[in-house]
Amino acid sequence: MSRTVYVNGEFVPEEAATVSVFDRGFLFADGVYEVTSVLGGRLVDFDGHAARLERSLSELDMPVPLARDALLEIHRRLVADNRIEDGLVYLQVTRGAADRDFAYPDADTPQTVVLFTQSKPGLADSPQSRTGLSVVTLPDLRWDRRDIKTVQLLYPSMAKMEARARGADDAWMVEDGAVTEGTSNNAYIVKNGTIVTRQLGSEILHGITRSAVLRFAREAQMKVEERAFTVEEAQAADEAFVTSASSFVTAVTRIDGRAVGDGAPGPVARRLREIYLDESLKSAL
Ligand code: PDD
Repeated sequence: MSRTVYVNGEFVPEEAATVSVFDRGFLFADGVYEVTSVLGGRLVDFDGHAARLERSLSELDMPVPLARDALLEIHRRLVADNRIEDGLVYLQVTRGAADRDFAYPDADTPQTVVLFTQSKPGLADSPQSRTGLSVVTLPDLRWDRRDIKTVQLLYPSMAKMEARARGADDAWMVEDGAVTEGTSNNAYIVKNGTIVTRQLGSEILHGITRSAVLRFAREAQMKVEERAFTVEEAQAADEAFVTSASSFVTAVTRIDGRAVGDGAPGPVARRLREIYLDESLKSAL
């Protein structure tokens, strides 16, 4: 069945949705995006994603095309029209269509705003959430402003393909000997009960799930260290896991072919997943 998508003010069937060939998202990857999960028909961490969208736009000198309430309405309508019980809502904003030029177009150029849904029945109960993920490590060859959630996803996409070619599920990216993050998630290890994850900076995306999970961990009296860690440290850790809007909290059980801990999802990752899902469902919109 055809989905309804949102394009520049209109709700249309996906086949009828169009964006200009001169769109700067297409020509220059000049755009940002957000991904919000839907569980039980409700949006998880919506306000966090809306706030990060505004920050990404502002870092690129782009106006905010729609205020939070208007965005929420569009998200909700797409969830309802497409009967999304569990799934994802993608929001893409570009600098709009203009004759090709490296310089930004005039500030009054209409931005392109697109939203679409993906239905993912059982999103919170995927097989991988029970078995854990295997990751390989690869050099982080992305640009230096990974804190901006831009649509420049070619390297993460290449890294994901390389991971698959090596028989793994995903890749953790490494820079100057330390893990930055996963291709589409933030990376963590657990050693002697302490949760370690890279500190915020321009080297990683400031995950909305990360922020909630660290808050819940601290509230549950778990020890958290925000600092860089090496691949060797990760392989010698008791546990490892990732967080993102699409995977929530998911254990990583193999790194470059070596089992982490006993090779099964560990108690800290399992507990954090449970707390995150419970708590974020309470505040879902
Ligand atoms: N990815 N780091 C990167 C590079 C990401 O692309 C993502 C999200 C995260 C986690 O952020 P959050 O917790 O806000 O989802 C970290 C999304 C899910 C995606 O591109 O599909």
